[in-house]
Amino acid sequence: MPDDHLTVAVALTDEAATLDFGARLAACLHAGMSVWLEGDLGAGKTTLVRGLLRAVGVTGTVRSPTYTLVEVHLVSGLNFYHFDFYRFNQPEDFLDAGLDEYFQGQGVCLVEWPERAAPYLPPADLRIALSLAPDHGRLVRCQTASERGRRCLALLTAVPCSSSPPPA
Ligand SMILES: Nc1ncnc2c1ncn2[C@@H]1O[C@H](COP(=O)(O)OP(=O)(O)O)[C@@H](O)[C@H]1O
Ligand SMILES: [Mg+2]
Repeated sequence: MPDDHLTVAVALTDEAATLDFGARLAACLHAGMSVWLEGDLGAGKTTLVRGLLRAVGVTGTVRSPTYTLVEVHLVSGLNFYHFDFYRFNQPEDFLDAGLDEYFQGQGVCLVEWPERAAPYLPPADLRIALSLAPDHGRLVRCQTASERGRRCLALLTAVPCSSSPPPA
């Protein structure tokens, strides 16, 4: 049994820091990985995904999938599936919507409100929990749940935070 549990906690002082964290995470992900994003409404889940998707080259608007359940972004032949299960009334809605097929391919799955589909959702590689910090920023806590998740997080912690460029 590999030692696949690694936890990383980072303070995100403002929205730019959440976007930057998403971008750093993007550099560590691989095809077929599944990332759960947990935290209350307004915790910053969509913001983190927005930073991640922009970093991989998504140039258009990154909409929250609150109403569509899934937004698909195709980048360099790799699909990024961004889910939001907030509106599920019961976990079976996941099966009724036929969403399980998305998790069987090589796409990267980024899931907001995974707990609302929990019994039917394939296991995560990474679990990311966002919460409000006392200074009005956010705290992000990442926990690995597989060997490839552990490798991803090990890589993430090896990459230093990028500093913001000075204004022009
Ligand atoms: N680190 C942060 N500090 C302060 N505000 C943030 C931070 N990260 C994101 N936000 C803000 O939080 C709000 C809600 O973010 P959003 O990503 O929509 O949350 P969620 O998807 O978890 O409901 C947005 O206005 C966003 O700008
Ligand atoms: Mg959201």
